[in-house]
Amino acid sequence: MRLAVLASGTGSICKAIINADVEVAAVLVDRHCPAIEMAKAGDIPVLLVERDNFGTDFDRDQYSNDVVAALKEQEIGVVAMAGFGTILAAPFFEAYEGRVLNTHPSLLPSFPGWHAVNDALQHGVRVTGCTVHIATLEVDAGPILAQSPVEIRDDDDETSLHERIKLTERDLYPATIKACLAQMETQR
Ligand code: GRF
Repeated sequence: MRLAVLASGTGSICKAIINADVEVAAVLVDRHCPAIEMAKAGDIPVLLVERDNFGTDFDRDQYSNDVVAALKEQEIGVVAMAGFGTILAAPFFEAYEGRVLNTHPSLLPSFPGWHAVNDALQHGVRVTGCTVHIATLEVDAGPILAQSPVEIRDDDDETSLHERIKLTERDLYPATIKACLAQMETQR
């Protein structure tokens, strides 16, 4: 099954997947971001499905269809979200049902959403972490595949804590993707 990674942010999780023993067939981005160079350095095709509208009239269904079309053209069977900055709509989750993986910087079901790291700090929890799960239309809610805890230190701020969470994500996510791909192959 051909794997695509979807990224928008600093791309460090994307890079960890590329550097792990996981074959990445394409990297899809919604904007110009460091993941593009990371993919090129690994000779991996880049699919730029540029999002040109961040307003309230953004056509999420149309954009999701464009993403699906770009992935299908590359015969992608499995998708790993790695800090992708656009929430995709039903056409995407229907096309790739059960075959979209995501990593989230909290121990779900605690702290879903964009501000997971800060929310954990604000709530004063002593332990947070990361969760790898199957992504569904409902954001940060699909079946959990793997989790790893991270202790919160007294002097942590959002940046320091997120960076330590990402250290665990960079191990756990590629390993879980690999295991999932192997399992999906046996089910074909
Ligand atoms: C990760 O913490 C991931 O869980 C979240 O976005 C972050 C991406 O990090 N969805 P990076 O941009 O790859 O460094």
